Amino acid sequence: MAMAATLFRFGSPSCKPNAAAAASNGVLAFNRSSSWTCRSKATASREAMAAAGRRRERKGPADEENNEIEWPSYLTPERLGVLSEMEPWVEDHVLPLLKPVEASWQPTDMLPDPATLGADGFHAACLDLRAAAEGVSDELLVCLVANMVTEEALPTYPSGFNRFKVVRDATGADATAWARWIRGWSAEENRHGDVLNRYMHLSGRFDMREVERTVQRLIRDGMSFHGPVSSPFHGFVYVTFQERATAISHGNMARLVGARGAGDAALARICGTVAADEKRHEAAYTRIMGKLFEADPDASVRAMAYTMRHRVEMPTAYINDGRHSVGDFYARFIAIAEQAGTYTISDYRSILEHLIQQWGVEELAAGLSGEGRQARDYLCALPHKIKRMEEKVIDRAAKAQNKTPTAIPINWIFDRTISVVLP
Ligand SMILES: [Fe+2]
Ligand SMILES: [Fe+2]
Repeated sequence: MAMAATLFRFGSPSCKPNAAAAASNGVLAFNRSSSWTCRSKATASREAMAAAGRRRERKGPADEENNEIEWPSYLTPERLGVLSEMEPWVEDHVLPLLKPVEASWQPTDMLPDPATLGADGFHAACLDLRAAAEGVSDELLVCLVANMVTEEALPTYPSGFNRFKVVRDATGADATAWARWIRGWSAEENRHGDVLNRYMHLSGRFDMREVERTVQRLIRDGMSFHGPVSSPFHGFVYVTFQERATAISHGNMARLVGARGAGDAALARICGTVAADEKRHEAAYTRIMGKLFEADPDASVRAMAYTMRHRVEMPTAYINDGRHSVGDFYARFIAIAEQAGTYTISDYRSILEHLIQQWGVEELAAGLSGEGRQARDYLCALPHKIKRMEEKVIDRAAKAQNKTPTAIPINWIFDRTISVVLP
């Protein structure tokens, strides 16, 4: 998962509506007042807050708008029973989407390996890798760090799955199909951070100690998931969205770093391979959620609407360089990412449109309650609303071109500066 996927959420504590940032590359939060906003209200450094052990608990929109307290109904035995009954189907239709270890790529396959090249060959291959890495722009290097950090924060993600009712791996070694999926998926994901980390180390283009500190901070600080943490319905909607966003982000990175001329073909291959894994994972979660739509369309469409109303918060929302408050750094990062072109506002809408189509949301009718019909109608209208916001964001970003760029030093790349127009 997890992109950082590059999975970014736009916004900073001061961003409102943060048009330029939104146009940048992240995944935006679309709120009920039909505006792209930053949800983060933390203004103090998370570093300091965590150190002081007094992290402020964030309130979700459900707390803010006390009209959505329906989610406990997703945890009733009747609804959860669907997931138990699905287990044989998961065995037959989801687990096969994992690749056996023996058939899986490993980071060593894509990087210089002293065991096969010998000392001289390894040295020569590392020099080649470093020479190719010189062609990658600083903007893309920064985005690559964010992708890598998100993958390296993997310990956070299975712990999220293990909060879901029924599907959780209660003992850590459960034999259920659900539990084997969670562990198998985690094991595949683990290679993503490994390969990116190792490439970065060998390339010589990164201050790895600073990157490593960022990884440690992100795992320490966790991630924000505003959905009901125990509901597999909401969780699978969220993770499907995330896997697709991650695939897009890694795929864009592969395309951009593989550009002819100053491209790095080895890095492009790495990012493309990771993106292919993410697509396979996306297929699995799309399939799971599709089955839930079949079994309980009312719960599923309401969970999807809830998730979209309450934003798809990205795993990197708390990413931090140790110098800024989380929000301040994030605002800078997303402006850089926009400039680099690794993820755009249009991607958020396109993912939503894709999922609406995949799960046949527009055609849902039978078995829907009044709330279910409202959820369906909300979802079907949402892409149009986002499109209108997208146009405004792009318009604002164009006007921002006349602003003076800000030179931002980034410690991940030895404090080289990147000039961007900040919102
Ligand atoms: Fe993934
Ligand atoms: Fe991944």
